Amino acid sequence: MSKVTMTVNGTERSGEVEGRTLLVHFLRDQLGLTGTHVGCDTSQCGACVVHVNGAAVKACTMFAAEAEGAEVATIEGQANSDGSLNTIQQAFQDHHGLQCGFCTPGMVMSAAALLKDNPKPTEAEVRHYLEGNLCRCTGYHNIVKAIMAASGQDVGAIAAE
Ligand code: FES
Ligand code: FES
Repeated sequence: MSKVTMTVNGTERSGEVEGRTLLVHFLRDQLGLTGTHVGCDTSQCGACVVHVNGAAVKACTMFAAEAEGAEVATIEGQANSDGSLNTIQQAFQDHHGLQCGFCTPGMVMSAAALLKDNPKPTEAEVRHYLEGNLCRCTGYHNIVKAIMAASGQDVGAIAAE
């Protein structure tokens, strides 16, 4: 076991980890940040997406020890400071971008990373970016719509499926 320290949602957090401990398990099991989900064991589903030093990362593909000294952001840190939903979260609610919600934290974190790099993505760019995030409920359409809306674009032209 060795000590690892990282900044998570703006607060310095430490814990004891094994070399094999994955970042997603450190966040969930040691820090209690269970909004980051585990939906597969093949690194395919994207339910575990967090930001590490500003970049979207599947937290099941990274050892906790590798995040030593990093700035980590999870879904728990995404709301506005007054506790209200941020723009992306609100858009998911407004455009029915979720059903069971299992994929949603990863979707929101991926969307945030996309919009940071590409503030006005096309529908095709959103769909391409979400290739690493699986949703078994929504058919993706309303997720894409929510992300387009969160970017401030008119989604009226995106026909309902
Ligand atoms: Fe990380 Fe599925 S739990 S990609
Ligand atoms: Fe159920 Fe996406 S809303 S998996």
